[in-house]
Amino acid sequence: MVLFRVFSLLITFSVFISADITIYRPRTLKDSIVQRYDKNSIPISIANFGNPPYGRKIIGKVYLPNEGERLGCLPFTNLTVHQPEEFQASFLIVEIGRCPNTLKVKHAQEIGVNCVIIANSMDGDINEHVLSDDGVGTDVNIPSALITKSDGHDIINEIISGEIVEIGLEFSMRKSYLHVELGLWMSSDNLKILDFVSELYDTINEVDFSLVTFSPNYVHWRCSVCADNNFTSPVDNCLSGGRYCAADPDGLGPLTGKSIVAEDLRQKCLWMTSEAKGSHKVWFKYMSLFRKRCISSFTEECSKKIINEIGMDYKDIDKCIKDSTEGGKNVTMDDNSILRQERRKWKHSGVQFYPAIVINNQTYMGNWDSKDVLDAICSAFEETPQSCFDNGYGSDWPENQYMVSMTTLIMILLGFFCLLIFALLYYRLRARSQMKQEMRRQINQAVTQYFALQDINTS
Ligand SMILES: *[C@@H]1O[C@H](CO)[C@@H](O)[C@H](O)[C@H]1NC(C)=O
Ligand SMILES: *[C@@H]1O[C@H](CO)[C@@H](O)[C@H](O)[C@H]1NC(C)=O
Ligand SMILES: *[C@@H]1O[C@H](CO)[C@@H](O)[C@H](O)[C@H]1NC(C)=O
Ligand SMILES: *[C@@H]1O[C@H](CO)[C@@H](O)[C@H](O)[C@H]1NC(C)=O
Repeated sequence: MVLFRVFSLLITFSVFISADITIYRPRTLKDSIVQRYDKNSIPISIANFGNPPYGRKIIGKVYLPNEGERLGCLPFTNLTVHQPEEFQASFLIVEIGRCPNTLKVKHAQEIGVNCVIIANSMDGDINEHVLSDDGVGTDVNIPSALITKSDGHDIINEIISGEIVEIGLEFSMRKSYLHVELGLWMSSDNLKILDFVSELYDTINEVDFSLVTFSPNYVHWRCSVCADNNFTSPVDNCLSGGRYCAADPDGLGPLTGKSIVAEDLRQKCLWMTSEAKGSHKVWFKYMSLFRKRCISSFTEECSKKIINEIGMDYKDIDKCIKDSTEGGKNVTMDDNSILRQERRKWKHSGVQFYPAIVINNQTYMGNWDSKDVLDAICSAFEETPQSCFDNGYGSDWPENQYMVSMTTLIMILLGFFCLLIFALLYYRLRARSQMKQEMRRQINQAVTQYFALQDINTS
């Protein structure tokens, strides 16, 4: 019986691991959601700004702005969000439209809301919509998520009718054992990703390189006019006759999309050759020097200099580029097997924008801050490695957001079991010794009576 209870507790905890919003009350809302999705949770798309607290679950009451402030485009003047004891967090639901989503979330943040739910203006697969930074994203540090029109409508109506709506949202990445896969989708002219990469080596190193499988990947677009031409003429912004292109970064300036794609190919080749030699650090070193010195020139000479400086042989990179160029070995005109492979991977990845950080094949949403990304990586381990805790994972969780991690729970349960077994053993030992004592007493009594009888008989 006790065992059964313990297991049902465990099961309840593991069911919590989901990326949806779970509805706790009211009953009527729960019922209509179950009818719609066959489960008690609604699908969401977490915004690509703000700061999703990876590894945490927040539960709380949903607030609705007064009529006239439903869009949240102006600061909320008449809405108090207070957190009664029974709720851990406050959610605010607003409608999409009229102004940037980041602005709505910023206004909510100003009145102390912990998480914003944005009701979309249409239904359909919510994962096809991404709330991206459309304005003031850098000032936003609370998470937000998009839900469908119908789900939003249902929640809003419940609140209008006077019900208290309580929901829970867990921010976790898809979990894996032993290794977490960390991928980047990037382009070498994007400063955001270059700045991030400069710090990434240290971030991964904090978790431990043996636990994180890292790969940099590059995104290019295809020139469709060139495709109609069978890629037979050279194009300014492309390699391979228009198969792989990048936007011209400086308009009339000296740089072309072609120089960017060529640099991407060098970087990918550097990654592949250094990875094959087991020296991950080389690529990161190159990237931070590239950011400092070559970002305005994108020339082969600049790249070559750095590669030699970090102890690699440029011949290896050159060979990689030549080997991957097919046909007549003309990089400008002929197809390239590495770039083709990157395109195939991008198509299958399901990632909808770049630059993007992908953890266990799931796009990371949130600020590109080392600490936040570290938390996201740590939350993707089925069993969180000690190195995560050593680097502050989970340490800044507010106390009122009561969370028990799976490991802690198992430890508590194990402790509880041990105690139980001890108690049982002790009880049995005691019972046995009491029984022995009782038997001894009865035997003694019997013997005494026997002797007493004997005494009577002999006297
Ligand atoms: C503020 O909100 C309350 C209800 O929450 C409403 O009765 C009141 O009229 C509002 N005041 C203004 C100035 O909008
Ligand atoms: C492109 O190639 C296809 C088949 O390989 C051919 O049918 C077509 O005519 C070519 N188009 C041009 C513009 O060369
Ligand atoms: C590659 O092809 C282009 C276009 O046909 C040509 O201009 C260029 O000289 C060629 N490059 C080499 C190295 O042959
Ligand atoms: C991610 O996707 C790749 C390719 O589809 C697959 O091999 C890999 O197992 C996936 N990883 C996880 C953690 O789901």
